Amino acid sequence: MSFSFNPMNHPLCFATPERISSVTSWQEHIPFAMFMVSAHKPRFVVELGSYLGDSYCAFCQTIKTLGLEAQCYAVDTWQGDKHSGFYGEDILANLREHHDPRYSGFSRLLRCTFDEALAQIPDGSTDLLHIDGLHTYEAVRHDFESWLPKLSPRGIVLFHDTNVREADFGVYRLWAELKVAYPSFEFLHGHGLGVLAVGEVESADLQALFRATPEEQAIVREFFFQLGRRVFNQGHIKRLEDSIHDLNFRLNEAVTQSQTLNQTLANQQARIIELEKANETAEATIGNLTAQLDSLVNSKAWKFVERFWQIKSSLRG
Ligand SMILES: C[S@@+](CC[C@H](N)C(=O)[O-])C[C@H]1O[C@@H](n2cnc3c(N)ncnc32)[C@H](O)[C@@H]1O
Repeated sequence: MSFSFNPMNHPLCFATPERISSVTSWQEHIPFAMFMVSAHKPRFVVELGSYLGDSYCAFCQTIKTLGLEAQCYAVDTWQGDKHSGFYGEDILANLREHHDPRYSGFSRLLRCTFDEALAQIPDGSTDLLHIDGLHTYEAVRHDFESWLPKLSPRGIVLFHDTNVREADFGVYRLWAELKVAYPSFEFLHGHGLGVLAVGEVESADLQALFRATPEEQAIVREFFFQLGRRVFNQGHIKRLEDSIHDLNFRLNEAVTQSQTLNQTLANQQARIIELEKANETAEATIGNLTAQLDSLVNSKAWKFVERFWQIKSSLRG
């Protein structure tokens, strides 16, 4: 049987993402995220771990472009964790600035722990769950098990970092357990992305993906790897443009500062010339007065005054 997976049915996977932040770790999966939304048409999306929102905004952008009737929730404390690093309030503010004007009609950013968010999401509701919180085996297992009841009968779960084997990352261990229990597909690039069908798969393209032979899997992996590189490079170009913009701004500031300093220097030089002239005039006056004094001291009248004072002081004595 021929391979019926056809990404051309979902041309949005070629779209340029509107959100490419400085956090690059998920960016290579954005074309697949767009493909997934286009193929699966989720009516309820939850993301556990959003940070600057690259993955979440890719889901939202596609939902908005396709005009899907969906509710979306991004859950995060927006404080960070030991793997992503801890960060400040500017991260959520930056995400809100991008997210709110575009997506707040169908999407909410829930600032709380994943466990606290459980009470806000109905059981059996979620068609697409993306798990990208803390990546230890225990944490990701807890996230999967506690959120499993939230999945709908057509639920699909994405796991990021299935291909990271350093430090205490343990998603790959959970993935090894789950991929044999459910229909699954794994991308190896971009730190690994696991796709797990815990419910009924309706889309013909997703069915083909989950049934792919090793040769077909390799083709799909290469296809999305190349598209992912393209997005990553777009992000890299954007970051370079931002830093050129920043350097230009600093250059303009330095030019303005140097113009101010040049003006101050010119003012000081003019003042030095003024002072030198005043000094010359003062020296000429001093020369004049000294000559006048000399001629006075040598005059007969002065000698007479001197003699007068000598006589007056001898009479007093
Ligand atoms: C790897 S980042 C998410 C990256 C994001 N998906 C992207 O596209 O770049 C992990 C995020 O999960 C959040 N997080 C980790 N454990 C959490 C928990 N138990 N409850 C809420 N947020 C959590 C952290 O604050 C961090 O922002």
